[in-house]
Amino acid sequence: MSDKRILLIIGGGIAAYKSLELIRELGRRGIACRCILTSGGSQFVTPLSVSALSGEKVFTELFDLDDEAEMGHIQLSRSADLVVVCPATADLMAKAVHGHANDLASTTLLATDTPVLMVPAMNVRMWQHAATVRNVAQLRADGVSVMEPDEGAMACGEFGPGRLPQVPAIVAEIERQLEGQTEGKGGGLLEGTHCVVTAGPTREPLDPVRFLSNHSSGRQGYAIAGALAAEGARVTLVSGPVAIEPPRGVGLVKVETARQMLKAVEEALPADVFVSVAAVADWRPARAATKKLKIKGAGSATPSMELAENPDILRTISNKRKHRPALVVGFAAETNDVEEHAAAKLKRKGCDWIVANDVSGDVMGGTENEIALVTRDGVDRWPRMGKDEVARRLAQKIADALDGSDDDVRLAAE
Ligand code: C5P
Repeated sequence: MSDKRILLIIGGGIAAYKSLELIRELGRRGIACRCILTSGGSQFVTPLSVSALSGEKVFTELFDLDDEAEMGHIQLSRSADLVVVCPATADLMAKAVHGHANDLASTTLLATDTPVLMVPAMNVRMWQHAATVRNVAQLRADGVSVMEPDEGAMACGEFGPGRLPQVPAIVAEIERQLEGQTEGKGGGLLEGTHCVVTAGPTREPLDPVRFLSNHSSGRQGYAIAGALAAEGARVTLVSGPVAIEPPRGVGLVKVETARQMLKAVEEALPADVFVSVAAVADWRPARAATKKLKIKGAGSATPSMELAENPDILRTISNKRKHRPALVVGFAAETNDVEEHAAAKLKRKGCDWIVANDVSGDVMGGTENEIALVTRDGVDRWPRMGKDEVARRLAQKIADALDGSDDDVRLAAE
């Protein structure tokens, strides 16, 4: 992907400072950025910081003779594989809808024949105003991709949708769109959906250098995240510490503890699908020392460790009243009576499916898995296969279910 280039239009909003983080992250992933800074944007970030991070000249004025001589605005608009507007303000979107061309950003948007991705960020009332709702619908009808903003506390003190999505999610969306162009695809089975996946172990600190954890490699969860992204889903992968690389086009949120993992999943909602693959530690040390615990001398009393129960992320998300994903999938690693235990777990957790994993053999940490998909309707046993193939089949099943051909999901969504 190293030969890809985007044109980033930085609009004027408090979230403009996040565009700097975005430029850095894209650079790390080999995606070059040429930037246009609107006059509003330059109230929040300076052209100098943008050019230092992007390593390129920053464009600001429409009628700048030097700029026009070097690279005219028409050429600028076509010099990238993707135009990204981030943050996309209500004003910039309104201008784009009506074809205004009174500054460099709006002129470029009108002159471009390159795909455009808008990443909105604004006050909740502005986002929910009928005019913005109309404009977003029109932009989408015109073929512009508009990401959904995040929900949460806003800089202005209000609460609701309108926050800029997390940078990893924006990077993933950009990669997904660039990847789609390379492979000439689009229209995957999960296009337009958002899937959240947890993977890997959690680490529960005892002191600054010691922790409780487990042997989860994260491989199955990462493969599922990759398979969902390959079907066109926007994927947020919330991962504990692992030694493997995230799949392309997936938004990675790194966490350590179970409580951080729950918070990250909740922040990633709303989503259509939640797949809980992580091997979350059931307990954590009740108290984590702030300094390294020291042995008091040979023969001194061995300290005892009190444990506290961790939140059950799968159960919490399954039982949400607001923003419960339409399909919630849990995993169960069992050594015996696999299907009976999985069916009981389905009820106990309140999820829709359980992917039951027979770990009596040598699958833990390996590349293969032997699973049974347990739903309220019964059990579907899959032959032993590679974790990538499990992931592909599961992504396919998820797509079928969201498509409405599965009663379980319709029930959950109603
Ligand atoms: O109860 P058990 O740990 O066997 O359940 C496994 C399933 O529950 C997996 O999907 C795992 O990701 C999820 N889980 C969780 N939070 C916990 C424990 C398990 O999300 N604290």
